[in-house]
Amino acid sequence: MKFIDEVTIKNKTVLLRVDFNVSLFENLSISDDLRIRQSIPTIKYLLKDHNKIILIAHLNDPEKRDKKESLIRVKNRLHEYLPDKKIHFVEDFTKNPEGIKDMDSDIVMLENIRFYEGEKKNDPEFAKSLAGLAEIYVNDAFGVSHRDHASIVGIPKYLPSFGGLLLKKETTILKRVMENPQKPFVAIIGGKKIRTKIKFITRLVKVADYLLLGGGLANTFLAAEGYKMGDSLVSSEDIKIAKDILSHARYHKTRFELPEDAVVADDKNDKETEVRKVEDLEPEDEILDIGPETQAEFGSIIAKAKTIIWNGPVGYMENPVFKRGTDFLYYAITHNTDAVSVVGGGDTLAAIAKKEYLDKITHISTGGGAMLFYIENGTLPGLQALEKSNN
Ligand code: 3PG
Repeated sequence: MKFIDEVTIKNKTVLLRVDFNVSLFENLSISDDLRIRQSIPTIKYLLKDHNKIILIAHLNDPEKRDKKESLIRVKNRLHEYLPDKKIHFVEDFTKNPEGIKDMDSDIVMLENIRFYEGEKKNDPEFAKSLAGLAEIYVNDAFGVSHRDHASIVGIPKYLPSFGGLLLKKETTILKRVMENPQKPFVAIIGGKKIRTKIKFITRLVKVADYLLLGGGLANTFLAAEGYKMGDSLVSSEDIKIAKDILSHARYHKTRFELPEDAVVADDKNDKETEVRKVEDLEPEDEILDIGPETQAEFGSIIAKAKTIIWNGPVGYMENPVFKRGTDFLYYAITHNTDAVSVVGGGDTLAAIAKKEYLDKITHISTGGGAMLFYIENGTLPGLQALEKSNN
């Protein structure tokens, strides 16, 4: 497959798939526009060569057309970054596709592509109708490239197709980290559920030197080690899998670090918190964050790392009282400037949004599920579709 900076694309109409699935505040204004900013280089690159861009993006996962999930705010934010460009917003491209081709604008942005049933079904007719709007397809939507959707895997069957600059950046660094990491390689994995991260953890056990686990998913591993977990979130049906992963880690001589102590409370009551060793948990204790000894241990391992991957908060970060462990890890990672560091995942990004030292992280991935998928499988359906495309 080729990326746009490896070919010449000039004076063409280009369908550009981006991941502008930004996080929103309750009043629907944009809370973090990292995903928009990260695709600006690709947009500018294509515009410089006098291409006209038709942008495809999604927002959330609507069942049907719904104003609350319109991309209009995203279009307005994009305009702030490209003030001298004409951007048209098209509510329903199926109504007058020919009209889109004739529009006098630099960029045409289509309404939320998930308003159309054919998108998630990867309906070939729908993919063809999108492909009919342009001459070239470019995928810059790393964060959605693990989905078999029409705008990701369908369109490349009908148009010459290439990867965008963000897709190149994301896949290049993840490939480097997974195939040729500088050692010690430390993976920090948090989040609530173990189930969605089993393959990810299993893959990392093989390549990383240390796995540092926190958050709800670490509880299941602690339970597998025989600790009584009080009222903490534990996925009982996954204890057997956790045991298998632990023995897999012993076999690979990977240091598997679980919390030694935790911040606990009864029913998330942040007025009465305690720090408890994991062997001393009371029946009413719910683990809500890693404790100070765990912070110190994790911090010393992070300080000597040369490669770091971080996905998932290590506490109940919705409440700032239980976000201190996650904040501590963030500072530990950003203060190890010798390491290549990659951070990803929606919750992780929300936890660090607007913090200082963000520029000390080598790469902030725009992908949550996509980053996990890429690390687990070494590729993505969206990349495979570009590889197969007849350019
Ligand atoms: C994301 O937010 O991870 C991507 O935009 C993909 O969205 P999805 O999980 O709804 O497919």
